[in-house]
Amino acid sequence: MARITASVYTSHVPAIGAAIDLSKTAEPYWQPLFKGYEFSKKWLAANRPDVIFLVYNDHATAFSLDMIPTFAIGTAAQFEPADEGWGPRPVPTVIGHPELAAHIAQSVIQDDFDLTIVNRMDVDHGLTVPLSLMCGQPQAWPCPVIPFAVNVVQYPVPSGRRCFNLGRALRKAVESYDEPLKVQVWGTGGMSHQLQGPRAGLINAAWDNAFLDRLIADPAGLAEVPHIEYVREAGSEGIELVMWLIARGAMSDVAGGPAPRVVHRFFHVPASNTAVGHLILENAQ
Ligand code: DHB
Ligand code: FE
Repeated sequence: MARITASVYTSHVPAIGAAIDLSKTAEPYWQPLFKGYEFSKKWLAANRPDVIFLVYNDHATAFSLDMIPTFAIGTAAQFEPADEGWGPRPVPTVIGHPELAAHIAQSVIQDDFDLTIVNRMDVDHGLTVPLSLMCGQPQAWPCPVIPFAVNVVQYPVPSGRRCFNLGRALRKAVESYDEPLKVQVWGTGGMSHQLQGPRAGLINAAWDNAFLDRLIADPAGLAEVPHIEYVREAGSEGIELVMWLIARGAMSDVAGGPAPRVVHRFFHVPASNTAVGHLILENAQ
């Protein structure tokens, strides 16, 4: 059977992608940020999964006000990097895993979560920047990736509790797939940031770090935090953090297993307008 070996959490700031693509990672502004991912790149190379289930949000790139799926699973064989206004990022095509994605859709929908099935979609910085941070600049991404887009852009957005419970259903789905695949679940977006209005530029490092503490040690409690607290404390775009609860809900301890091992934790300000947070949690073998 397939199993979830680890979860990875990271911000997805588009300027990080531009810094990589334009060879600026050693500049004084960016160097401390990329230093925080040196361990992660080595860890991923040593713990390469067969599939990454990558939870992210589309930023009005593949979707628009025409169509607003709350949860959308990418079931295609491949996904191209999107043109977000400056041409597509020079990164590899994302190879999907249609069989596992279809199985997860079947299982999770039968578990009462309404997923939108997406057979054609370009993927924006929400998905490609986390891959770049964890993999650098390879010729091809290290394994197939199932994109899982969550609407955190246009209200109403899903609650943290719903995301956490979706993670639990995801774990059941993966563990009922009849092939011995090692699957990592990545939760991306956040941490505190607000890109618009009078509070643009808001950062709340104390709240972010408390979020990381609770994500590790009290995820069920953290899942009860209402969306208004994210917006008030972490800014309008801080709501992206509910996506991390999908990855956390898929970890073994939530279903009665042992606590995950904290392999890496990193926090850094500034990166563009955003506080960058990063965690790697491993399930016990
Ligand atoms: C920034 C952060 C985001 O999450 C995003 O989607 C766009 C921009 C920023 O900090 O600039
Ligand atoms: Fe974003």
